[in-house]
Amino acid sequence: MKNKKITRKITQGVYVLTTDGGGCIVDAVSQISGGDQPLISVAVMKKNYTNELMHRNKTFSLSVLGIKANSDIIKTFGLKSMRDINKFENIKTNEIENLKVIDNSLGYMICETVDSIENETHTLFIGKLIEADVYKEEEAMSYSYYQEHKDKVLKVKTENGKTAFICMACGYIYYGDELPEHFKCPICGVSKEYFEKK
Ligand SMILES: Cc1cc2nc3c(=O)[nH]c(=O)nc-3n(C[C@H](O)[C@H](O)[C@H](O)COP(=O)(O)O)c2cc1C
Repeated sequence: MKNKKITRKITQGVYVLTTDGGGCIVDAVSQISGGDQPLISVAVMKKNYTNELMHRNKTFSLSVLGIKANSDIIKTFGLKSMRDINKFENIKTNEIENLKVIDNSLGYMICETVDSIENETHTLFIGKLIEADVYKEEEAMSYSYYQEHKDKVLKVKTENGKTAFICMACGYIYYGDELPEHFKCPICGVSKEYFEKK
């Protein structure tokens, strides 16, 4: 593949997906039909705890993040697992249709899962929109904005004087002079070609 970065030009947003028991940051969201209750798809990695929960539950929410989103939201929901921490402990949420939505977001969509498609690494969940609201009319964060401004969005501070490598897929920081030979990001699994030296 000559340059996979062109896929970043596919317009995608950055969302907090929640379902009963957890949730994670997702960008792989599409509206697949129109009408009063459009169908919306979300692709969730099989290795994520959220995938397990999505199979168990019948509803999910998507909170839309704006470009001014608090970095803690993305770090908590996108770089950590509910297997290890309670992601809802320090993030303010509202309860809508028995689901948690992010208070400091541009608004939310609540969907009822109507179908799912399995592939090797992801499950594509398809939901029907059953409730939605707009909290703020501000610019939504696109995935390419996130990629281009990751240091600012995540408020990345590398420890003074130390060499660090940042994962351009998820923002994980590795400290060390060189990445080990067969290194893979422990958070999102991408290979070391995705790391940039800081
Ligand atoms: C900007 C960004 C976009 C992401 N997009 C997706 C996505 O579309 N699908 C997905 O399954 N994970 C995505 N992730 C990764 C998950 O949010 C991450 O692996 C999370 O820690 C999983 O948590 P869990 O184990 O509690 O489910 C993304 C992360 C970031 C930072």
